[in-house]
Amino acid sequence: MAERRILFLPGDGIGPEIMAQVRRLVDWYNARGYGFLVEEDLVGGAAIDAHGVPLHPDTLARAREVGTVMLGAVGGPKWDHLPFERKPERGLLALRKELGLFANLRPALVFDALVEASTLKTEVVRGLDLLILRELTGGVYFGEPRGIEELPDGERRAVDTQVYTTPEIRRIARVAFELARRRRNRVTSVEKANVMYTGVLWRQTVQEVHDREYPDVELRHMYADNCAMQLLRDPHQFDVIVTDNLFGDLLSDEAAMLTGSLGMLPSASLGERRPDGRRNALYEPVHGSAPDIAGRDLANPLACILSFAMLLRHSFDLGEEADRLEGAVARVLEAGYRTADIHTPGTTRVGTREMGGRVLEALEALSG
Ligand code: IPM
Ligand code: MG
Repeated sequence: MAERRILFLPGDGIGPEIMAQVRRLVDWYNARGYGFLVEEDLVGGAAIDAHGVPLHPDTLARAREVGTVMLGAVGGPKWDHLPFERKPERGLLALRKELGLFANLRPALVFDALVEASTLKTEVVRGLDLLILRELTGGVYFGEPRGIEELPDGERRAVDTQVYTTPEIRRIARVAFELARRRRNRVTSVEKANVMYTGVLWRQTVQEVHDREYPDVELRHMYADNCAMQLLRDPHQFDVIVTDNLFGDLLSDEAAMLTGSLGMLPSASLGERRPDGRRNALYEPVHGSAPDIAGRDLANPLACILSFAMLLRHSFDLGEEADRLEGAVARVLEAGYRTADIHTPGTTRVGTREMGGRVLEALEALSG
């Protein structure tokens, strides 16, 4: 059996406790011969405390070599005072950039059992299944010039640069169309072509890729502000939403909330295919490090567990196993188990560890 290497980077806050639940899953699979080989290292605040930097060069080298990374969360008040370039978040951004993880998949799926947890009316969100595809290595997150400068009159001036090239837009557009073909065949491309040149180029380029290579896929263009509004009004109109780094950051938080909890939303970040056919990939929950509840067995491990399901599917071609793990999560929710963030009257409140255990149990039952 081929070795399946994964680099675990638990990070900060609730990161370690939710990743511990994924570790239990890995042990379960390994007891059945899957041969996952887990290595562990530091990122974010944990790496700052140990090495003075949010991503040690050795950790980056290891991530490059292993190629498949599972990350918990980074950041916390302890490191808030640090200058921007040395904050925990820079470790995550460096991983994305250095591993070339340009395609960020953020599915928003409403589990039937959780339809009540959404702040929106149940008829608006029931059965929701959309995918935000966020460009992750370009745009205003990395564009140059950037910085804050002193002006001769003693005032200051800040600059960020939104920049996209046609190859960057083409490659993310292709991923969008490929994903849509395996779903409901509909892509909504989102930008602000009414006020931004990057938006104009984005719209033209996505349209060209569509007309030349994917004419069978239904394509629409939408302004980002309208998209934010449409997501609340009628989210069922969407299948795949493809958008830039910053709009994707905003819209994916909004989409997460449609599902009732940020604690439910997984993500995968994929790079180009390497010569050996594999893609560099990083899997992480969309939620943050939640320092206020860290270490208290309160965190919801499901987004992290669902991120691991994405890892099974996208890095190791274990689609059936991924389906089954997602099925196990659905089952646990149907049985009424809830962590604090998704708890509603009449359901059973459980902690992080018990939730992880319930998923294992359901997985066992489904694999019976
Ligand atoms: C996310 C987060 C990050 C981002 C932060 C932690 C840098 O909000 O993954 O959505 O802005 O990309
Ligand atoms: Mg975000």
